[in-house]
Amino acid sequence: MEPGDIIQMVKDSGLRGRGGAGFPTGMKWGFLPPDDGGPRYLVVNADESEPGTCKDIPTMLSAPQILVEGVAITSYAIGCNHAFIYVRGEVTHVYRRLLQAVREAYEAGHLGKNIHGSGFDLDVTVHAGAGAYICGEETALLDSLEGRRGQPRLKPPFPAVAGLYARPTVVNNVESVSSVPAIIDRGVEWFTAMGTERSKGMGIFSLSGHVNRPGQYEAPLGITLREPDRHGRRHA
Ligand SMILES: Cc1cc2nc3c(=O)[nH]c(=O)nc-3n(C[C@H](O)[C@H](O)[C@H](O)COP(=O)(O)O)c2cc1C
Repeated sequence: MEPGDIIQMVKDSGLRGRGGAGFPTGMKWGFLPPDDGGPRYLVVNADESEPGTCKDIPTMLSAPQILVEGVAITSYAIGCNHAFIYVRGEVTHVYRRLLQAVREAYEAGHLGKNIHGSGFDLDVTVHAGAGAYICGEETALLDSLEGRRGQPRLKPPFPAVAGLYARPTVVNNVESVSSVPAIIDRGVEWFTAMGTERSKGMGIFSLSGHVNRPGQYEAPLGITLREPDRHGRRHA
């Protein structure tokens, strides 16, 4: 597939960012200015620290390979040769797991120079942040990644125009990027068959507190607590 076809597919899928604001992912990728020969970056926001939020960390613990695959596909689509995953430093076990997954991907030839003879190069850096809630805000995260104290930048310019090292940058949440491989593999129709009219696909829901079966559940967006799962069980 050509990079533009992947961007179009993600636009058609209706995937919206899972980092909070729900911005359409394919549209965000399409905002990058045309290639000027200089670097452009993908930065994965893995800073998850909202109280009660616990979706990206379990994903990265159980299946970091999906995120790495999503990073490779997204980078190819937007023309990025160096991607970063910014993870909270406190979650050392997740950091180690990501490092291992990235190492394995290099060894298998899924990352590095001329990936599987495609002519596409990609390096992935896993960066451990020092741990500050504000560093989850995308421009504070970029300052932190550049080695400064993480404080939000004034916008505009938006990261798409002047992000990491003042170069065009896409910042996407872990779950957003991890949704991409399945969309490419199973297709737009599969993805759009789930969800609501304005928000397609599935999401990861954390159930905690006074519920019968606390845990992490992946389910179509728009599902209610009253709806039983495919085993006929209710979770609340
Ligand atoms: C105070 C604050 C904290 C945030 N924390 C996170 C976070 O931990 N993870 C995240 O993905 N987005 C967080 N965001 C949203 C990001 O700024 C950004 O919108 C998001 O990473 C974009 O990814 P998406 O388009 O894939 O959703 C935060 C925003 C604010 C204002």
